Amino acid sequence: MPTLRLGSIAPDFEAQTTQGPIKFHEWIGDSWAVLFSHPGDFTPVCTTELGEVARQAPEFAKRGVKVIGISANTLDDHEKWVKDINEYGSKFGPTDVQFPIIADPDRKISTLYDMLDAQDATNVDAKGLPFTVRTVFVIDPKKVIRLLISYPASTGRNFDEILRVIDSLQIGDKHRVTTPVNWKKGDDVIVHPSVSHEEAKTLFPEHTVHKPYLRTTPLNLPTLSTI
Ligand code: BEZ
Repeated sequence: MPTLRLGSIAPDFEAQTTQGPIKFHEWIGDSWAVLFSHPGDFTPVCTTELGEVARQAPEFAKRGVKVIGISANTLDDHEKWVKDINEYGSKFGPTDVQFPIIADPDRKISTLYDMLDAQDATNVDAKGLPFTVRTVFVIDPKKVIRLLISYPASTGRNFDEILRVIDSLQIGDKHRVTTPVNWKKGDDVIVHPSVSHEEAKTLFPEHTVHKPYLRTTPLNLPTLSTI
């Protein structure tokens, strides 16, 4: 099993999902993708997370991102559990899980992506086999892993943060900029260190030089509203 790092190609696989069988790379197509694992079906934190992802579906779609969940349960369990997620989630707004959830009861894909929990003795199934931790892989249309985070089973993720990183990655792919601490879409960005001072004058006429190595600029480009 190769170590997966930022810049690695996301391994391809075939899987059964709640939306039918998929070949992962084919399913991603020309989109971005978020592959996120959750420990197990019918567990509380996961129930809150999947509802939130369903409610945020338009935000992912706006950015050209497909979302897919995975856990070490069967398709039958996933299908029953989705009803609970929608029912509980509707307390917080319209909740309708439409994204696919991969059935991985034999942990083939969880193992391929190194998602299995090696440290939480409570995060196991009835046979004592480990469930996954809460991993997030953001994968670009070239199938390159661009973000990789792992949370423990006990901590629900912040999907606003995942959208924020996707905004940063997509803006950085289009413009020679990086994004500062706590940045969010619409805030000033940082001129990439590889941009010379001469180039910066033309590329970012409104930029400010705070230090020779720290230059910020507004990025009021029409493209920003489409990503
Ligand atoms: C949960 O989703 O609530 C959970 C799952 C496994 C271990 C701990 C919490």
